[in-house]
Amino acid sequence: MKGILLAGGAGTRLYPITIPISKQIIPVYDKPMIYYPLSTLIASGINEILVITTPKDLPLFKSLLLDGKQWGCSISYATQNQPKGIAEAFLIAQDFIGKDNVSLILGDNIFYFPSLSSIVIPSIKSIGASIFAYHVSDPSRYGVVEFNEQNKIMSIEEKPEKPKSNYAIPGFYFFDNNVVNYVKQLKPSPRGELEITDLIKKYHEQNLLNVIQMNKGTAWLDTGTVSSLMEASQFVQVLENRQGLKVGCVEEQAYCKKYINDSQLKKLAKPYNNGYGQYLISLLND
Ligand code: TTP
Repeated sequence: MKGILLAGGAGTRLYPITIPISKQIIPVYDKPMIYYPLSTLIASGINEILVITTPKDLPLFKSLLLDGKQWGCSISYATQNQPKGIAEAFLIAQDFIGKDNVSLILGDNIFYFPSLSSIVIPSIKSIGASIFAYHVSDPSRYGVVEFNEQNKIMSIEEKPEKPKSNYAIPGFYFFDNNVVNYVKQLKPSPRGELEITDLIKKYHEQNLLNVIQMNKGTAWLDTGTVSSLMEASQFVQVLENRQGLKVGCVEEQAYCKKYINDSQLKKLAKPYNNGYGQYLISLLND
């Protein structure tokens, strides 16, 4: 399984912060935003990753993430000239995907998902699509999935004015290799975007959609507005201070997956003159 990390977009809801800099570079508590979705991909066992961003922001991402070898991963880059929709990522990534299945994660989505690698990822089917459903208080900001009592999917709607359920679809998806063919059949929506919701609907029409409900011990946060960005930072701070464990730590996930060894982790920690570096060193002793 390959991974696409989509980190383009305009970030207009965070203006003026995001006038000179990509949303996905700004900090969420103690690390750049993109570390969170990147660490989620790595925790999922994905180490071949394509970062898609804007031509303007590309040099920033390259200077931060390099080629990924420092984390035992391969990170390559592509650009999206205009934010023409999340599903366009699969057209941009066509050559990268090749004959493999692919996961897509949005650069501004933060997951706290302790059961991800041990329970959830092994249950992802290799045929069809798998998405998550997460109970939120304000579903109309998101794609919304409705279930019946037998857990059968009844409807999927993008940003509905009157949502039929409280289950939002987080920005983390798994698709089989047919995804590129399906995206080629999509037409831009009235807002001019290739919609991820329309892509998900295609799989649903073929009875090939698997929806995994994120349980109560998990959290999904998005960071698109100043309030949600602040809440995400506070969430991470509270959790990290309370537990003494980090959320979204790329180096830790790479070490857990054995993509890097003790001496590589030590080398990564060396330049850090703060608690982040001390945390990395503490992982060696655990
Ligand atoms: P959005 O939050 O929908 O868009 P945005 O980041 O441009 O922000 P704003 O609405 O404030 O202008 O995007 C969600 C994520 O998907 C975010 O990480 C950016 C990414 N994205 C792209 O990279 N390309 C796209 O065409 C779209 C629509 C989103």
